[in-house]
Amino acid sequence: MIRVLFVCLGNICRSPLAEAIFNSKVKVAGMEAQFKCDSAGTSDFHIGELPDERTVKCAEKYKLPLNHRGRQVNRTDFRDFEYILAMDDHNLRNLNNMKVRYGFGEKEIYLMRDFVTGSQGMSVPDPYYGGQEGFEEIYTILDEAVDRFLAQLIATHHLYA
Ligand code: 4NP
Repeated sequence: MIRVLFVCLGNICRSPLAEAIFNSKVKVAGMEAQFKCDSAGTSDFHIGELPDERTVKCAEKYKLPLNHRGRQVNRTDFRDFEYILAMDDHNLRNLNNMKVRYGFGEKEIYLMRDFVTGSQGMSVPDPYYGGQEGFEEIYTILDEAVDRFLAQLIATHHLYA
């Protein structure tokens, strides 16, 4: 079982959408038994909350089930998830600071777009202070990034359905 954690700031926009896209692609591939996926935020701003209503709208449009309540990254996440992917540099820096504080200094943290050729190092932009169109933009970015990430996992771990 490969465990994957998507991380953004609030855990109500980007990372729950990434989680939903990942779960949907895993289901289509018939590989549900091989992955566990969750999402979390580096901040405590939206703990216990449902995803942002614009995230919900976007997920409905693409028929992605959303099943998440906001939570903050914690110490055990660094132990429990093989792959931790941050949405942007700010989240990456926070995670890299947290991992040292929590005694997991050796753990590699990835950026969400690191698996897309030509997009390494790029952010998934924060859509919170914009309109619905920003969610369309992050959906397109995440759909491709999750696709490439999943393909990489399947190749690296020699997985098959
Ligand atoms: P997310 O978006 O990190 O993609 O969930 C945000 C959600 C909330 C805030 C910022 C970004 N906020 O400042 O409350």
